[in-house]
Amino acid sequence: MISLPILVSLALFPFTLAQSSDTALQVAAIEAHFKQSEIVPSLLASFDPSALLTVDYASVGVITPGQLLTKEQSAPTPEVTVTPVNSSLELTGKYTITMVDADIVGSDLTKGVNRHWLINGVDIADGKVSNASATAITAYAGPGPAAGSGPHRYVIILYQQPDSFKAPADLSEPIGVTLFDVNAYAKNSGLGSIVAATYITVEDGTATTSIPATSAVVSSTLVASEPTGTQSGTSAGAGTGITSADGPSKTNGDLSLASFSPLSVVLAGIAVMIIA
Ligand SMILES: *[C@@H]1O[C@H](CO)[C@@H](O)[C@H](O)[C@H]1NC(C)=O
Ligand SMILES: *[C@@H]1O[C@H](CO)[C@@H](O)[C@H](O)[C@H]1NC(C)=O
Repeated sequence: MISLPILVSLALFPFTLAQSSDTALQVAAIEAHFKQSEIVPSLLASFDPSALLTVDYASVGVITPGQLLTKEQSAPTPEVTVTPVNSSLELTGKYTITMVDADIVGSDLTKGVNRHWLINGVDIADGKVSNASATAITAYAGPGPAAGSGPHRYVIILYQQPDSFKAPADLSEPIGVTLFDVNAYAKNSGLGSIVAATYITVEDGTATTSIPATSAVVSSTLVASEPTGTQSGTSAGAGTGITSADGPSKTNGDLSLASFSPLSVVLAGIAVMIIA
């Protein structure tokens, strides 16, 4: 069995691992990240992707899951790439891509989420999501969280779109950002399963609302002090990558999450799970 120190040091050197072409590991990292940031289950009841979604913003480059971006950085339409976890999955056919604002950790999403992007009938050409012959319902509208409302989670989801897909009447023509229930939409329109997803975090100014404790956890402390730690509620949210300098991490005095990329945090979380 790999020793704890090795796993911890692996987690602290994300650069090495980020270079890895291990798609399955990166997909596992996103899955862990969705749980830690509570996107699962607050937005998605479950999440079992079969491919890696890579999102590239022109001024930032490829994002890590949950990466904190500014409104400016996330304003242009990103380039999205899909890489299957194994070569037996062929990315032919049509897909639907969407981006929704899952608000801050702990939000009640039952009233719906703001839809910032919804394109039906995208193709995947050379691994890239292409809208060449697609139907744009909501053209990409960059994140615009209200000032002081905290770090919002913007989730980008790629669904299978079977031939039997039928756009609902209220979302069959171009329409701007409005609230909708993405799960009901997917079900009622006949979309297939989620192929891949990831998310970014965007915050405007300093949060004036209190963010649930789960969103600001010192994950490095978790790894070090809870080598047999379980994925408890308090460890959730560690991967949001949104711990601010004046969050709980500062008073704690230990290494701050902010020092590490979200991927390293997730890998640290995975290391915890492996040890457990
Ligand atoms: C490849 O991935 C698909 C989708 O996750 C899965 O159903 C299938 O079992 C995998 N095949 C192999 C050989 O691992
Ligand atoms: C279609 O894709 C291009 C290239 O990525 C992008 O610039 C454009 O905004 C997209 N159109 C819509 C409606 O999403």
